[in-house]
Amino acid sequence: MTRTDIRVEQTQHSRLADVDFDNLVFGKVLSDHMLVADYHDGVWGDVSIVPYGNISISPSMSALHYGQSIFEGIKAYKFEDGTVSIFRPDKNWERFNKSATRLQMPEVPQEIFIDGLKQLLSIDQNWVPNKNGSSLYIRPFMFATEAALGVHPSISYKFIIITGPVGAYYSKPISLKVETEYTRAADGGVGFSKNAGNYALALYPTELAHKQGYDQVMWTDAREHKYIEEAGTANLIFRIGDTIITPHGDTILHGVTRRTIIELADAWGLKTEQRKVSVDELIQGIESGQVSEAFAAGTAATITHISRIGFNGRDYELPAVETREFSLKVLDYLNDLRYGRIEDSFGWNFVV
Ligand code: COI
Repeated sequence: MTRTDIRVEQTQHSRLADVDFDNLVFGKVLSDHMLVADYHDGVWGDVSIVPYGNISISPSMSALHYGQSIFEGIKAYKFEDGTVSIFRPDKNWERFNKSATRLQMPEVPQEIFIDGLKQLLSIDQNWVPNKNGSSLYIRPFMFATEAALGVHPSISYKFIIITGPVGAYYSKPISLKVETEYTRAADGGVGFSKNAGNYALALYPTELAHKQGYDQVMWTDAREHKYIEEAGTANLIFRIGDTIITPHGDTILHGVTRRTIIELADAWGLKTEQRKVSVDELIQGIESGQVSEAFAAGTAATITHISRIGFNGRDYELPAVETREFSLKVLDYLNDLRYGRIEDSFGWNFVV
């Protein structure tokens, strides 16, 4: 598929002038256009870029009943000279198709996911903020559209990309409660996939954590509630001693930001480990001063420092943010790279 295969219908009523770019609430402001593609009987067809708006669905649409629904989160940035660049969309495309396979959904070809996204952003380039700390959040998603109540893989799907300008998802360091009662993912399950159900199941335990004074839960393994997994809205990374450590396995989302940070640490000659991290190791490390940094890493969260961890009725405070050399250096580096202020030696910027 080439650019000419995408039908474009531009809006006559841009909403851009109404946007307050200084007070963006995550996910509330959506850009003028969206990309929509339909899949039926084994074939992707009808790819179009149209004005953002409501879509019509059947009440018996299978995604509503049986949950074949997956998504991604990507960000685009604007350089000082106005160039628009998407950060590592190839990795999100790969992960999206892994999620699709696990949920018995069709893969989306690169021509639609990446080339289509580039065309969408070239049309909505004025929606990409140019302020430090702001970006255009990109939400590709796919869901089963067959109108049928029998439990079987849908024969039809819709793939949509919507976008919108955003600031920080978390405006300050967050507190996490180690979750030892509820479970996010089990071995052999769908923890690695970015499907809607993984977020729905987190809402109730997260609400309980909120009531206890925490921002988010820190998920632990399903079998023993002994090993740390992720925070639900982002992956987790720790600096223990001189090593940058992140939990590993198929029960956690394989985040692009997490991967980027580990790749950077490797390139900078730091010791990195992707392995099981027990809650005991973390708590003992905090108490002994070995844990000097702890942060959440994700597209929306970028790097969000963790200030406090609650476990077994006790709170454990992490060192002051100003002392966190590694994560502060990563943040500066990634900002410089994403806003085009330094050379892109890794090839992570996809210029539109
Ligand atoms: C992202 O980081 O892009 C996500 O999808 C997480 C979501 C909680 C906003």
